[in-house]
Amino acid sequence: MNNYSDPALDLMTEALLVALSAASRETGAHSHRTAEIADTLASRLSFTPDERASLRYASLLHDIGKLTSDPAILHKCAALTAEETAHLREHVAASVEMLDRLGFPAAVVRIVAEHHEQFDGTGYPARSSGDSISRGARVFALADALDAILSDRCYRKARTYTEARAEILRCSGTQFDPLVVAAFISIPAERFQ
Ligand SMILES: [Fe+2]
Ligand SMILES: [Fe+2]
Repeated sequence: MNNYSDPALDLMTEALLVALSAASRETGAHSHRTAEIADTLASRLSFTPDERASLRYASLLHDIGKLTSDPAILHKCAALTAEETAHLREHVAASVEMLDRLGFPAAVVRIVAEHHEQFDGTGYPARSSGDSISRGARVFALADALDAILSDRCYRKARTYTEARAEILRCSGTQFDPLVVAAFISIPAERFQ
């Protein structure tokens, strides 16, 4: 784990995660797992202790804005309407607003703001691409996707690590930064399981 952390931010993060887990146990668990995966990737990519700390807070709190999502839509298993999808996408702005108001550092807020951007510019909300997306958010995107693929959803079963690896390789250069994919591929599978 990182060497750097701030006791006040740690306490706030803990409190927010208790609330998030109460609203959605799966989102809380996903946040913790994603932080572990992202930190493993960050260590391989030689992030500084400060960069790792920012990425850790951002990973733990990326979906905190889901506290403001309509629970009926958040937990809906059937296909979402366009309106429902748009509603759920607002969690990014809500996360940013909450963390900004609570005084989280700009580097943390930026990763959270960019956590659904994609390398080829097809993500949301800003459709940023390539290096204009922060390095932390480019690493985070892979961690978020890996955990999603390895987890059960109400509409599908978890896939295997081998399937996840193939899927991530397939999306190198489109959804993901190729340098982050290369770092991921170079790490033994056991570190993620
Ligand atoms: Fe999200
Ligand atoms: Fe996520």
